[in-house]
Amino acid sequence: MEVKAVTGDINEISADVVIINLFEGVSRPGGATGVVDQAMDGLITQLIADGEIKGKLYETTLIHTMGKIAGKRILVVGLGKQEKLSLDLLRSIAAVAARASRKAGAKRVATIIHGTGAGGFEVEKASQAITEGTILGLYRFRKHMAKDDEDRDINEFVIIQRDKDTIEQVQRGVSVGKIMAEATSLARDMVNEPANKMTPTDMASIAKAIADEYGLDIEVVEREEMERLGMGGLLGVAQGSTQLPKFIILKYHGNSSKPAIALVGKGLTFDSGGISIKPSERMHEMKGDMSGGAAVITAMKAIAQLKPAINVTGIVPAVENLPDGAAYKPGDVLVAMNGKTIEVLNTDAEGRLALADALSYAVKENLSPIIDIATLTGACHIALGDFCSGIFGYDQNIIDAVIKAGEEVGERHWQLPMYEEYKEQNKSDIADIKNTGGRYGGAITAAQFLGEFSGDTPWAHLDIAGTFMMDKERGYLVKGATGVGVRTLVNFVLTMAADKHGD
Ligand code: BES
Ligand code: MN
Ligand code: ZN
Repeated sequence: MEVKAVTGDINEISADVVIINLFEGVSRPGGATGVVDQAMDGLITQLIADGEIKGKLYETTLIHTMGKIAGKRILVVGLGKQEKLSLDLLRSIAAVAARASRKAGAKRVATIIHGTGAGGFEVEKASQAITEGTILGLYRFRKHMAKDDEDRDINEFVIIQRDKDTIEQVQRGVSVGKIMAEATSLARDMVNEPANKMTPTDMASIAKAIADEYGLDIEVVEREEMERLGMGGLLGVAQGSTQLPKFIILKYHGNSSKPAIALVGKGLTFDSGGISIKPSERMHEMKGDMSGGAAVITAMKAIAQLKPAINVTGIVPAVENLPDGAAYKPGDVLVAMNGKTIEVLNTDAEGRLALADALSYAVKENLSPIIDIATLTGACHIALGDFCSGIFGYDQNIIDAVIKAGEEVGERHWQLPMYEEYKEQNKSDIADIKNTGGRYGGAITAAQFLGEFSGDTPWAHLDIAGTFMMDKERGYLVKGATGVGVRTLVNFVLTMAADKHGD
């Protein structure tokens, strides 16, 4: 689908569906909706008076224009209560309107920019939100299906603005929104892809293709090199699979004198649990245990396109956790890259082992700050449910900056404590640390385990076990992979680049 911005009269644009809007409680529409209403001889006003259109959030009403405007049909989308409208709701409203247009068979869709009139949002931000919401809301993963309903996709999505003075702002919003949404869609594709088609080698190939296309440096550390570097955690997890582990490093140079930011993502292309095998019922969802890694690789793509003035290194330990005859076992002791010994009490607590080496590597490379993102613990999902990710760390400034960066893009993070007392649960009788801290506070003890490998570097850990996948459609999130974290990471990097303090 092509997304573009044009100036012109809403009544003159030719489209299969023209999307206009209405706030709840408005009886005479103004702005662009009012302009269309007039051309339609007050039909919208009439439908409101008849109680057929109420403007309730996500309400959609499709009306044939009978040649009164150039567009064949109009779709009135409800914006809900004016005081409740947010940029994130705008994304979801755009998603709902786009899906309704697709369902109506539209090939060319035009929209006005919701929220910039009475809503009071900046034109650029609203245009970005509408672009993101539209692309993400229309997302489908149909690669492995017969393509008979392919013709139902919208080909062209046009954002129309009457005011010529602000068209550049619209264009900027569209272009940033496209980059953000396309990176997120690629992350969704990688996560939705089954594990037999998204192996560590496949992840490395995707990273390589991105690096080639967008001019990033790439290094893929192979098993022999991992052995030389002492990546015992990652190698331990890799033992039980015939898939070779890949340690993927992507570098973006933004010409800054500051150290590079490290983005570290858990890349478990499948997590069976290993010898401590998982119950079979929902095991297939563990094809998405590389969601953090996908978020990092695709965020690096967006960063390469947006070109902020800061250096960023993306690191993804990609590996598969399976239980064959060579698999690592409960009771084994592994030595991580930073020299710490780890007693493995549960081979299903594998993410922290792979991340131990990735964090050690980031510290060794003097990267700072370090943000890691991982589908790390079922405990985090239990604690926070489906609607926010967990955030952990010891550096409140970095944590606050990530929370804010997330808030700005509509991704929520809730901080959990790192109280000293919990650390006892990670103590091993025979090694420096063990890889499980027991059931209680499991998201916290997992984060504290990671904290042993991030050293003194400012660090934040994001646990996306509850948010990487949705079991039903909700606004611009569709069923399946969400691509969570991509937009937060990119926005965090943009914010750090814009913040000149200490440079
Ligand atoms: N990848 C899982 C966590 C997970 C579970 C993510 C469900 C998304 C949905 C992780 O590797 C894992 O198995 N964690 C264990 C840790 C335990 C053995 C200490 C868990 O959460 O049960
Ligand atoms: Mn596991
Ligand atoms: Zn896992």
